Amino acid sequence: MEVVILQSGEEIASLAADCVDRLLSAKPSAVFGLATGSSPLALYDELARRYQAGRLSFSQARAFMLDEYVGLPDDHPERYRNVIEREFGSRVDFGPGAVQGPDGNAIDLVAACEAYDNAIHTAGGIDLQVLGLGSDGHIAFNEPGSSLASRTRVKTLTRQTVADNARFFGGDQSKVPHHVVTQGLGTIMEARHLVLMALGKTKAEAVHQMVEGGVSSMWPASIIQFHPHASILLDTEAASRLQLASYFRQVYAGKPDWQTL
Ligand code: GLP
Repeated sequence: MEVVILQSGEEIASLAADCVDRLLSAKPSAVFGLATGSSPLALYDELARRYQAGRLSFSQARAFMLDEYVGLPDDHPERYRNVIEREFGSRVDFGPGAVQGPDGNAIDLVAACEAYDNAIHTAGGIDLQVLGLGSDGHIAFNEPGSSLASRTRVKTLTRQTVADNARFFGGDQSKVPHHVVTQGLGTIMEARHLVLMALGKTKAEAVHQMVEGGVSSMWPASIIQFHPHASILLDTEAASRLQLASYFRQVYAGKPDWQTL
């Protein structure tokens, strides 16, 4: 994995947007994996700016979301499909139906999860997966204890994640759904390039465990150590527990111009 430590969220967003930009130039029909949460918002802003400026187009691209709450009404503003539409989909030029998400309201959730994994496979797999990181080390909604080989399925949120996400529900933990559907760790690991963004002190321990800890379902993101092409973009606070921080800075500073993320 490549760990890049930058000064600000804007720099991280710009670097991640460069990856998206390059991929779209090489493959206009690229398949993206989209994350919700606050970490990718600056990236989505930057991509919307570049689209407005005529620098890139998603007209032939497709996207699959990572996860969804179970049981939120279709028009709930925090339903992840609505969040992605609001924050990103509606601001660029994806074609109709090009952005898909797991169905948290399916009558048969198990069948819907299997169908979702099949849809990703049929689309040719995900070229670039955007990821955030939970403070308990989750990616998507793969909480501690998740099978490292898991597929899209129903999960129960930890108390920590419910507390973390309550800020999107007016600070009221009782309004946060406790069940979710999420791409599995095995599903995420099949994406060809993982671009994970983590910002702030609350992520420092999870970042340390993900990058430098043993691979364990206790810190689900640590599975990324097995991924052949993972870019971990951090601000200085999120990187503050890394033992190898100065080495990662040295590597990035000496990176040859031709070598992109
Ligand atoms: C949420 C999402 C994850 C996200 C993570 C971090 O619960 N399901 O996909 O990466 O938590 O969120 P944030 O970026 O807001 O810290």
